[in-house]
Amino acid sequence: MSDLADLLHNQIGPVLDAVQDNIAIMGPDLSILFANKATADHFKSTRQELKGRKCYTVFQPRNSPCEDCPVVAALKTGKPASCRKTSDTSGADFEIYAAPLSFQGEVFGAMEFARDVSARSRIEDSERRAQELLSQLQKALAARDEFLSIASHELKTPLTALRLQTDLLTRLLTRTPEDVPRERIIESLRRTRADIDRLTGLIDDLLDVTRISARKLALTPETFDLVELGRDVADRFDYAIAFEAPPSLPGCWDRGRIDQVLTNLLSNAVKYGAKKPVALVLRLNGPLVEIAVRDQGIGIPPEHHGRIFERFERVTENEAIKGFGLGLWIVRNIVEAHRGRIAVESQPGQGSTFTVSLPLTPRS
Ligand SMILES: Nc1ncnc2c1ncn2[C@@H]1O[C@H](COP(=O)(O)OP(=O)(O)O)[C@@H](O)[C@H]1O
Ligand SMILES: [Mg+2]
Repeated sequence: MSDLADLLHNQIGPVLDAVQDNIAIMGPDLSILFANKATADHFKSTRQELKGRKCYTVFQPRNSPCEDCPVVAALKTGKPASCRKTSDTSGADFEIYAAPLSFQGEVFGAMEFARDVSARSRIEDSERRAQELLSQLQKALAARDEFLSIASHELKTPLTALRLQTDLLTRLLTRTPEDVPRERIIESLRRTRADIDRLTGLIDDLLDVTRISARKLALTPETFDLVELGRDVADRFDYAIAFEAPPSLPGCWDRGRIDQVLTNLLSNAVKYGAKKPVALVLRLNGPLVEIAVRDQGIGIPPEHHGRIFERFERVTENEAIKGFGLGLWIVRNIVEAHRGRIAVESQPGQGSTFTVSLPLTPRS
């Protein structure tokens, strides 16, 4: 063994000391027989201090060998082994290689070569992050393109209807003004008004996207009765909506925005409600008011429940049911700006219930 010590320390040692990576030689009991200068420097010790200590007490440090230790594997199998490991002492990432060493036919230990790859890990991390950002960006661009094409189509439809209505009215009134029945004119104006409302709604949604994305959704809270507002909104629908509520529910919220929440949830319930009953239920639940909108329509598969509250996300496969996929995203943002929550319970074919919980005041 003194020959071996001479070989390690006087013959190979100076060469191994010139290497920048950590190199150590361990005996069969995992005690350190030799450590090069890089290893000693890394563990802020001298070579003499390291010698004889168990490698795992120095390198990791721990009380027993690591499960994936390549030195143990090399000693056991007689073959080279490797692993990648983060040092508990320095936090550095190491790529570790070990090979068994034999002298005069007898395995007397294993040589370990450990390269600090922290810098490379950092580069890999930032490459991964850049890749993620890139794919987010690509998704956002694709969503924007899709949005622009849906938006122009959606905006065009009521505009075309509007033009047809006004053309018709003009033609009627210029040709035989005195013969045109009043009801005909009123009906035509009513349709025109409906188209204008639809267009206004779409444009409002678009403006909200800009505001919410720019985090400029400012609330103007005022004290009002939610029951009164709920009844008003439900009455605006040309659809029988069952309304359940206590006599009054006063609170402090942004009236226009809560109107928008109710309107959006009820329009969805009507739109996706398969012409079945829709209910709006308001109630007090401890310090919160709850708004529940229930329908018995097509429902939403559970795996889509999270996605529908995101921007431009739609589930419906029915191309005839049009929409931007913005409504629930806007609703969620309004509710969260009021420090409230929105949740959905739904099964395909069994309808959906959207429940909004709002604190009685935005800042209580
Ligand atoms: N009451 C509901 N019943 C079934 N599906 C719904 C209901 N409300 C929303 N959804 C689904 O969630 C998606 C997102 O809704 P929303 O953001 O309001 O967008 P839009 O109504 O414009 O499609 C809808 O496309 C639809 O697939
Ligand atoms: Mg909608």
